Amino acid sequence: MKIISTEYSQVLASRLAEELQCELIYTEYKHFPDNEIYLKTGMPDADTVIIGSIVDNDSFVQLLLLIDACEEAENITLVLPYMGYARQDKKFNPGEPISGRAIAKALSRNVKKVIAVNIHEEHVLSFFDCPATSVSLASTIGTYVREMDLSHTLILGPDVGAANFSQDVANACGSACDHLQKVRLSGVEVKIQPKNLDVRGRDVVIVDDIISTGGTLATAAGMLHEQGATSVHAICVHGIFASGGYARLLSGGIQSVASSDTIESAASKFSAARLIAQEILHS
Ligand code: R5P
Repeated sequence: MKIISTEYSQVLASRLAEELQCELIYTEYKHFPDNEIYLKTGMPDADTVIIGSIVDNDSFVQLLLLIDACEEAENITLVLPYMGYARQDKKFNPGEPISGRAIAKALSRNVKKVIAVNIHEEHVLSFFDCPATSVSLASTIGTYVREMDLSHTLILGPDVGAANFSQDVANACGSACDHLQKVRLSGVEVKIQPKNLDVRGRDVVIVDDIISTGGTLATAAGMLHEQGATSVHAICVHGIFASGGYARLLSGGIQSVASSDTIESAASKFSAARLIAQEILHS
């Protein structure tokens, strides 16, 4: 087995190669003067893993080109640590695309299996033309929380959509759990419905699949501080930190921010590599 990565998941790819004890192939990337992407990769194996998060349009095109470049491979497993566009899993308004479907269809050609990590909408997996699955980092986050050495920890989901995920994290670290109700006012503004939680004297860890602008968690943190929380921490799987999101969290009174390496940044404090390796080996 060989592993080939886009420019966007190089660190995670190297960790995955270590987990699987296999070769990480070097790929050369550059842009032509008109901004088209050029890449040149090494010889694939019969079993080849192509890995790359979709964080923007270039990252998507790099995946398309790698899949094409590896046409001699018999079994391509495509790993999408973060699958951008998966939030548009249906037409919310007439005239819109189902973006998750468009991306999934385009990436299915010549691919035998897709592995995603905490995909935002599981329904998007059904758009691939091959078996596709999403693994969850809830127990990895639970282990990370246990090592934070907090007291009277409360794991909190910021909205109903995060209720199951936060419960899974809480089960993994043996802490209490609750979730809030969120109303989204715009792409960057949310309103958290006040909820009487017993947070006085507690260390609260808000967990979510994605931190994008940080608006959701910063708003929740403000409410928790007002209610007497000792400290508030933010942990997510996919740390996008768009529009100054990281600074927004810290200036909003959040004591620490951690994410996985599905999107590589200085906030990446735990890895998805082992979980992805287990899924590759056991599926
Ligand atoms: C939405 O349903 C997601 O789970 C996240 O809560 C959302 O993407 C966070 O966005 P932001 O950080 O911009 O508030």
